[in-house]
Formats: sequence, C-alpha cells, structure tokens
Amino acid sequence: MILILDFGSQYTQLIARRIREANVYCEIHPYNIPREKIDRLQPKGIILSGSPASVYQENAPQVEEELFDLHVPFLGICYGMGIINQAAGGEVARSDRREYGPAELQVDHDTDLFYGFPKSDPVRVWMSHGDKITSLPEGWRIIAHSANSPIAAFTNPERRLFGVQFHPEVAHTPRGKEILENFLFRISNCEATWTMSRFVETAVNKVKSQVGDRRVLCALSGGVDSSVAATLIHRAIGDRVVCIFVNNGLLRQGEVEDVLHVGRRFGDGFHYVDASKRFLSTLQGVEDPEEKRRRIGHAFIEVFEEEAKKLGEFTFLAQGTLYPDVIESTSFVGPSATIKTHHNVGGIPSNMPFILMEPLRELFKDEVRRLGQELGLPMEMIQRHPFPGPGLAIRILGEITEGLLQILRKADAIVMHEIRAAGLYDKVWQSFAVLLPIRSVGVKGDERSYENVIALRVVDSQDGMTADWVPLAPELLGKISNRIINEVRGVGRVVYDISSKPPATIEWE
Ligand code: XMP
Repeated sequence: MILILDFGSQYTQLIARRIREANVYCEIHPYNIPREKIDRLQPKGIILSGSPASVYQENAPQVEEELFDLHVPFLGICYGMGIINQAAGGEVARSDRREYGPAELQVDHDTDLFYGFPKSDPVRVWMSHGDKITSLPEGWRIIAHSANSPIAAFTNPERRLFGVQFHPEVAHTPRGKEILENFLFRISNCEATWTMSRFVETAVNKVKSQVGDRRVLCALSGGVDSSVAATLIHRAIGDRVVCIFVNNGLLRQGEVEDVLHVGRRFGDGFHYVDASKRFLSTLQGVEDPEEKRRRIGHAFIEVFEEEAKKLGEFTFLAQGTLYPDVIESTSFVGPSATIKTHHNVGGIPSNMPFILMEPLRELFKDEVRRLGQELGLPMEMIQRHPFPGPGLAIRILGEITEGLLQILRKADAIVMHEIRAAGLYDKVWQSFAVLLPIRSVGVKGDERSYENVIALRVVDSQDGMTADWVPLAPELLGKISNRIINEVRGVGRVVYDISSKPPATIEWE
C-alpha cells in the first residue's frame, strides 16, 4: 500500500484517486499520524501532500524528523516537497509572488520519476505554490526545472526521496499520472493488483466489522450514490439494513414512483414515508440558501428518528455521501472554505442519535458508478444524473411554494424529455431547469404577459468539482424554450446558463 500524509491540500483525494486508477491500494491519513500506526500499515511508499499553509506560517503542519528513518521511498508534492527538503537541512524561501497556473517543465534527469520523459521535450505542469525551494542538502540533485522554479523537482538518490513543486495529481498536468506511476511501480515496487472487486471486498468487510450484530437505517433517495451505498451495505449485513425513502415534497415529476420501483430490490428492507407537508412547512418564508439546506438536513434527521422508532432499534444511519460533498461542506485544516452545506454532510445536527456511516465517503462519482456496475446495479440506475439531497428547494431561488414547485416540475420534465430524445442524457453530467421567480414582460396571444423565468443548466463534469456548460445545438435550445414557454403556465422566458464551475457552481443555490 501507499500511505498519503495529508497536510490539508484540496487535491489530496485526487492523489488517492490517481493511485487507485493505477490499481494500487492507498490510504490517506493526517500528517501527524502516530509512528506505530505507520509501522502497522507497512507502506511501500509515502506521499506527502500539498497544503494551503506556508512553512513559515505559525503552527504550520510539520512531521517528526524520525519519519524519514523509515526506509521507504518518499514523494513530496508542493508543500510536501518543502517538508522533505527542510527536514534534511535544505532551504525553503517565501516566493516574492505566488505561482499559480500552467508552466513548462524541463526535465534534467529522465530516470526514476521522469522515466519516459525525454529531456528534449518540455512538459506542461500545473503550479500552485507560494514557497519555493532555494537550496538543497549536499548530494541531492535537481531533476527538473521551470522558468520560475529552478528547483521544480529534486531527488536524494540514495535515500529514494523525491519532491516536485508542481501538482502531478491534477488534470491540468496531463502526464502527471505517468509521473505518479513511476513513483508507484519504478521507485516503490508496488504491484497493480487493487481493483473495484477488491474495493467491494474491503468495503463489505469494513461494514461487517463496524456493524457487528447491530442494525443500520440507510437513507435511500433513488440516486446513484444512495443506491450503491444501500446495495453495498445490504451485501454486507443482509436484512439488518432497512432502506428508508423520504418523500420531502421537493422531488421531480414521476420521481416517487421511480424510487418505489428501486426500493423493490430491497424487499422487506424498504420503507417509504411521505413527509412532504412537513418539509414544505419548515421551508415556509425561508429565502436564504444555506438556511434552506440546514432546515432540510434537520427535517430529514427528525423523520429518520421518528421512523426508526417504529422500525426497531438502529445504531447507524448510512448515507451515500461522496468526497466532493465532504470537501465542499467542511473546512479541514483550512484548505477548502465551506462552499455549500451539502445536506448529507453539513446539515446534520450535532446531537443526532445515530452513528453516521458513509461507505463511499472517499470516492468520486465516476468511481461510484464503476462500483455500482461491480455490484450488478442496472445501467439506467448507474447513469442517472446527480440530483441534490435538498431537491428542487435549491433550484427555486428564494422562497418555495407549492405553485412554484409545480411550475418547475413541468419545466424540468420537458428538459429531461428533450435531452433524452436528443441522445444526450448519457453524454452530459447533469441537465435541469432552475426557476427564477422574477417576472419579465412578454406578449402571449396578443396580450401582455408578466411571468417567471426558467434558466436551463446543462453541464459536463468528471466529478462535480469543476464543470463546463455544454454548447447545446441552437435547434435543441429553441425546442426546449418553445415547449416550456408554450406548455408551462407561469413561465414567459427561458435563458441558458453559460457559466462554468468555478467560478459559478452547478446548482444555483
Ligand atoms: P455544486 O452546486 O456544489 O454541485 O457545484 C456539485 C454537485 O453536487 C450536487 N449537489 C448536491 N448533492 N446534496 C447532494 O447530495 C446537496 O446538498 C448538493 N448540493 C449540490 C449537484 O447537483 C452537483 O452534481
């Protein structure tokens, strides 16, 4: 296994993901993990992540020098590179300016880390750093440089220590995966034996040992994440999991029926509750998006609690939370500001009476889809577009009313229908309608109209962390717009959202 020590970079999970893609098992642990634990893990190599901190900052995360007594190869990325260098007596200086963005890397030694990278061809890499290494301990070697970073990569060849200033784990470093693979296979002698079926085996065993002879209540929304989580847990503990589907009144057209259909897979271990009135009343008069998310999160837990009492004793509440939900909802050592409180992470009250179980917490959406395939879920379930836990509440800007929900449901159903008919459903990440309850003037049947606006959002993404708007064909845009304006009473105008994430987000609230 490869051990990743996390210094708080928002890219740490991406390092793990790249390693999993190379079929090597890895685990992320905080940078200050006790030494005995490392010894127990017996890693074949250790990667030190980046960090939003500067090594100069007060309380900057540090490791104990003894860490480097471990006779395994190390790779330090960005901040991690500075840590390795400093521990051996090299110098790190604060750069006069931050370097953020693409850079051309010139490889000086095309062995080890840069095996397969000829010195004659500069490679595109992604830089994002403030500190900069200015000198190396004796005997260490510069193995790559760039215009701004004379020491863009180094090695201590005897001790098998490596450091890179850039981020090989991000998509903006197109050949980063090869660099990481060189670390895994050439330097650390890992074997590519870890697969999705091994993940299932490990995850099932983990659930079994965590649960013992107790019971789990699993929140099921019918989406990919919760269906995969439920199936995994079901495989581990059979009828000791009960899936609960809560109709929160914020679902799309036909969705309740669809999820009831999904629920049949779980036989007697499926429970349906219609709590739509309760959710709508708790949202009455609320305009602020974060407050909506908070109230919805709380209402969910209340319903789970009440229903659990009727269904027997439950120790755990399971959810299909994924990594992007976690990283955008929490602020760990400081890397990622809270962007949105995803209901199944931040909206949970601290005094909730269950132990939270999130077996997919470290995975990205496309990995969960592959896991779903491995577990034998049908393709139409696996390919479903993501739908947020707070549902249509965050697609109606401002206060929610039953009337506005009805308008949005109709408009959204038209969008879905046309996107499917155009053969685009499986090709895009997400497509949906957003209701902007601001009215604009129009003319309908020779009369003045004054009605709401629908924004159409169609985006492409790999993992929901970044996204691009999809340039739909003008004919399709025209068809969707015409149908919505003609068929949905209360909508007088349709606009197309052409913002990428970042700086916008996928959902409007
Ligand atoms: P944003 O809007 O943050 O969305 O760019 C990224 C992805 O996450 C989905 N999303 C959510 N999923 N609970 C969820 O389960 C939530 O509260 C939530 N908010 C956003 C969103 O649909 C997109 O796919």
